[in-house]
Amino acid sequence: MTTKQDYYTLDDFNFKDKTVLLRVDTNCPLSKEDLSIVNDVRIRAVTPTVRELIGKRAKLVIIAHQSRKGKWDCTGLEQHAKRLSKNLNIPVKYVDDVIGDKAKQAIMDLKPGEILMLGNVRTMDSETAKLDMVGHSEGEIVKALAPLIDYYVCDAFGAAHRSQCSLVGFPLKVPSASGRLMARELYALRSIFDNPRRPSVFILGGAKFGDVPHMIDVVMEHGMVDTVIIVGLAGNAFLYARGVDIGEASSAILKDELTPENIEIAKQVMTKYGQHILLPVDVAVERDGKRVSVNIGDMPTKEPALDIGDLSIDKFQKVIESSKTSFMSGPAGMFEKPGFEMGTKGLMEAMVNSKGLSVIGGGHTASAAEKFDYADRMSYLSTGGGALETFLLREPLPVIEALKESKKRFPAD
Ligand code: 3PG
Repeated sequence: MTTKQDYYTLDDFNFKDKTVLLRVDTNCPLSKEDLSIVNDVRIRAVTPTVRELIGKRAKLVIIAHQSRKGKWDCTGLEQHAKRLSKNLNIPVKYVDDVIGDKAKQAIMDLKPGEILMLGNVRTMDSETAKLDMVGHSEGEIVKALAPLIDYYVCDAFGAAHRSQCSLVGFPLKVPSASGRLMARELYALRSIFDNPRRPSVFILGGAKFGDVPHMIDVVMEHGMVDTVIIVGLAGNAFLYARGVDIGEASSAILKDELTPENIEIAKQVMTKYGQHILLPVDVAVERDGKRVSVNIGDMPTKEPALDIGDLSIDKFQKVIESSKTSFMSGPAGMFEKPGFEMGTKGLMEAMVNSKGLSVIGGGHTASAAEKFDYADRMSYLSTGGGALETFLLREPLPVIEALKESKKRFPAD
C-alpha cells in the first residue's frame, strides 16, 4: 500500500528480516561536570519508531549525532544507546565506529529484532560537508553503509533542516521512509501554525540572535503572529541594536552574534514591526551572590545580564496569559543557574495557565519545561529547534526533500 504523501512512511515497506538504517536526532543536553545526559526527551521521542521496526522484525541499525565536532559536548553515543535500551527495555548494542570494519561487521551480524547503535556521525568531516543531497549521496558514509542495508528511515525531525550526509544522502541510493516522530511533528505543527488561534504570541529566546530578525520578518509577513517577545541573549542583542548600552560583560557574551549586518537587520525589523515586538524592560544580574533586577534605564551593568528582570516577567506573563496560541523557542535566561531560572519558568507558567494552545520548540527548551514540571501541561512539545524554525519560515526541509526524491526513484513494496 502506498501512502498519499509525496514521500514514503513506515506503512509502505515490509521490513521483516530486512536491514534498516534509522537516522534519529538524539542530540541531548549534557552535564558540563561529567558529560552525562541531562535530559533524554529526544531519545524518548523516537522510541515508538524503534519499537515498531523491531516489532516488524527488522535488523535495526541506528545512527545519530551529538553536538558538533570540536565542541565540548561532542561525545560518543554509548550512553545514548544505554538510555534507549532502558526506555525500550530491549538490549541495544553499541559500536563506537561509523563506517569502519567494526561497524560493518556488527551490521552483518545483526539478527531480526536486534538493535545496533553506531558512533557519532559528526566525528566525520564528510557528514557536515556543504553539499546538497546529490553530493552527499556520494559521501563516504553512504558509500560504506548503503550496500549493507535494505531500507533507510529518517526520524530525525530535530535535524531535518540540515543537508548533511547521514540525513539526505541515503534516500537517493536506497528506498527510504519517514519515521513516526517526523510524521507526528509535521502533523501537529501544521495543525497549530497553518492557521493559529488569535491572538498568538511567539517568545523567542536562546543564544542564536542572528536567526531571530529574519524569523520575525517572515512570521509577521505571513500574519502568523500578533506579538513577538524577545528574551535571553537574543533579547540583550535586540536591546543593543535599539541603542541600549548593555555593558561590556553582556556584549562580550554576544560578540560573535553582534555583527553589523545582524544589528542592521534587527533595526529594520524593529522599524517595520516595532508595535508588535516586546523587549525586556529590565534584566537580572548576579550581585553579591544574589539575583538583582536592573531597569534598562539604569544600564550598563558591569555584571552580565543572565535573565530577564522581574518587571519584564510580570509584563510578559500578562500578554501570554491572554493569548490563544503561545510558542516558545529558546530559554529566557541561564535557567540552569539557581535564581536565573525565574524568567524561563515564569513565562512557561503563563503559557500553561493561558486558555490557548502552548507549544515548546527545541531540545533545550523542552528540557527546561521538563525540569520545571510544565512539559505535561503544554499542548505540544516539539523536538525541533532549528527545524521547527525552518518549518515556521516556510522554507523546505532538506530531509523531506530527499525523502520525496527517494519516492520518485524507488517503488513501494
Ligand atoms: C538541534 O539540536 O537543533 C539539532 O540536533 C541540530 O543540531 P545542529 O544545530 O548542531 O545542526
